[in-house]
Amino acid sequence: MVGRGLLAELPRTLVERCPARPYAVISDSRVAELYGSRVLGLMRDAGLEARLFQFPNGEWNKTRETWAELTDAMLKARVGRDGAVVALGGGVTGDLAGFVAATFLRGVPYVQVPTTLLAMIDASVGGKTGVDVPAGKNLVGAFHQPSFVLADIETLATLPGPHVSAGMAEALKHAVIADAAYLDALLADAALIRGKDLAALERVVTRSVTIKSDVVAADPLETGRRQVLNFGHTVGHAVEARSGYAMLHGEAVAVGMAVEASLAESLGIAERGLAAAVRAALGRFGLPIRVPDELAAEDLLEAMQSDKKVRARAVRFSLPTRLGQMLQRADGAWTVDVEPQEILQAVAASR
Ligand SMILES: NC(=O)c1ccc[n+]([C@@H]2O[C@H](COP(=O)([O-])OP(=O)(O)OC[C@H]3O[C@@H](n4cnc5c(N)ncnc54)[C@H](O)[C@@H]3O)[C@@H](O)[C@H]2O)c1
Ligand SMILES: [Zn+2]
Repeated sequence: MVGRGLLAELPRTLVERCPARPYAVISDSRVAELYGSRVLGLMRDAGLEARLFQFPNGEWNKTRETWAELTDAMLKARVGRDGAVVALGGGVTGDLAGFVAATFLRGVPYVQVPTTLLAMIDASVGGKTGVDVPAGKNLVGAFHQPSFVLADIETLATLPGPHVSAGMAEALKHAVIADAAYLDALLADAALIRGKDLAALERVVTRSVTIKSDVVAADPLETGRRQVLNFGHTVGHAVEARSGYAMLHGEAVAVGMAVEASLAESLGIAERGLAAAVRAALGRFGLPIRVPDELAAEDLLEAMQSDKKVRARAVRFSLPTRLGQMLQRADGAWTVDVEPQEILQAVAASR
């Protein structure tokens, strides 16, 4: 569900689509401060039993430790098998609360109430949940589909500008992987979007959610086509983790898309000019396109390789052929294996 003022519909929608007692509302500290009492008030006024469980905001808290604290607190509060989780917040909250729901008492239902642009258009859709671990991003988790996703565009009014841009990295990703006309629409609306015009943001959320849910519905467990959503993320996750989470997820993905677009072009997979078009689009939304100097290419490569001992090992990428279309090989596969040397070159070219 996407619209303005939708939070008021949450209690009724919960009763219809995710009946439970009690509801464990999970939020980070910032979102709890902004929207916690309003959402709990709405739920309680409708006769629902709701309790708030908070954790400190920030990507570096998307960990097993926070998962342990939340599940312990819910057990202590005697949330039982009739309970359900309401993930109220950004992608960090959604991934973490979703993983809590996937594992708590072997799994309880949950719903997503995303409050960042990134969570509305990407993280809340598709059922991927999990936490970051020292070895890398999102390496421990589960597929667990929410009963529904409710995105109230009005909550974006309080979202800081850098987080609007970070969300736009994923919107641009959707355009590059599936819909060149969407890229034109985003560029035409760039000033409105950056000014947080709610009508323009609603158009972004609606179109992006359609693209993402189409891809996910065709391949929910990521055995094939869903891999195209990882465009920009192979390099992006390495940049994000190696920056010590100093860069926002969306910013790291922007850098990742710039590098991977160059890689696609230098490998002869993408038509000429694609990388320049991707970089220009990212620039229009104030997103970074260069690999930070302090991140050594060898370290990034190591972060991309799941087995650190095999340094010579190729890395799997999902790459575009042109704007709006991703490579599918003759054997049906949506990924290609790229040699370390090619990756190092693409990183060096993106400084
Ligand atoms: N599961 C998936 O398919 C998927 C897809 C994309 C990204 N992700 C994950 O999403 C995470 C990034 O999500 P994010 O960018 O939303 O980060 P986030 O959840 O950390 O939110 C960003 C910041 O904005 C604050 N905030 C949230 N809503 C607000 C509002 N309405 N007003 C003011 N401040 C608000 C938060 O407290 C936080 O400090 C990453 O961990 C990434 O791996 C998951
Ligand atoms: Zn992402």
